[in-house]
Amino acid sequence: MTHKRVRTAIFPVAGLGTRFLPATKGTPKELLPVIDTPLIQYAIDEAREVGVERMIFVSHPSKAAIEHYVMDDARLRATLVDHGKSDLAHELEEAALDTRDCEVIFVTQPEPRGLGDAVACARPHLLDGPVAVILPDDLILGTPGCLREMVDAYDRGKAGHLVAVMEVPKALTGRYGILSVTAEDGRFVQASGIVEKPEPDKALSQMAVVGRYILDPVVFDALAQQAPGAGGEVQLTDAITISSVKAGVAGFRFSGRRFDCGSKQGMLAATLFLARDDPAYAEVFEEYLAPEDIAPVG
Ligand code: UTP
Repeated sequence: MTHKRVRTAIFPVAGLGTRFLPATKGTPKELLPVIDTPLIQYAIDEAREVGVERMIFVSHPSKAAIEHYVMDDARLRATLVDHGKSDLAHELEEAALDTRDCEVIFVTQPEPRGLGDAVACARPHLLDGPVAVILPDDLILGTPGCLREMVDAYDRGKAGHLVAVMEVPKALTGRYGILSVTAEDGRFVQASGIVEKPEPDKALSQMAVVGRYILDPVVFDALAQQAPGAGGEVQLTDAITISSVKAGVAGFRFSGRRFDCGSKQGMLAATLFLARDDPAYAEVFEEYLAPEDIAPVG
């Protein structure tokens, strides 16, 4: 297989975020913060680390706050400078997307018809070559970032579709897309496809797909022909499986730590993980997480 650079990153951000209602009634899930940094910022930084040329955000009209967040806000920065907070203004400028570094495109997914449908909405705007898809609610912490590791591995060209995977307990296979593993080769897991949320007794492995993908463009042909699958949604995993006949699919065991920040438990875990080694929060841990505070009340 010939290698091509990953020039495009797609961020699907049009979902309903029902697991975080009522918060997501007013704030898009992708803007919920881990301490003070919105999930979308981590995702953007991961894409920046691989130097993509175009970022495509697939959003919904009710989630306009995402566009406001990711782009620069010169007026807010000027106000901060006027208030003697130049450092903060500089931090905001660094975090925001700069269209001189990378093209930024917002497209609309009219209805939340599933991840596959969202990814398909980006098709008219793709640059050539393989495409990265990043799900912001899967927070993956690590250095290098997960996508960086995958792009480097993809350079070795073992499969057209490379998906991030981690091993999960057998009892939990029903929560994930699970790879149909055919062979293991170091950090690569060769597969014949992905089965969406199989019950433990039906799962062909314990290799769960998480929200980072590098996809051969043939996936878009499969998406264009696809009817809704599990849960009435157009599943990206189905399109990957169908098009893997042409492109091949492999899992990649990333080295970072993944948090499912689409769930309250995952968000709390990520917050505790990032706060526990930061002296700024030592007092809070001492006060609320000391053993005597954990003892039952009453
Ligand atoms: P999820 O399935 O985790 O998000 O999609 P959700 O549907 O918004 O959340 P719940 O289950 O109701 O709580 C993962 C990513 O895909 C996007 C979401 O915005 C999220 O970033 N997504 C999902 C879309 O863009 N469109 C969709 O139709 C579905």
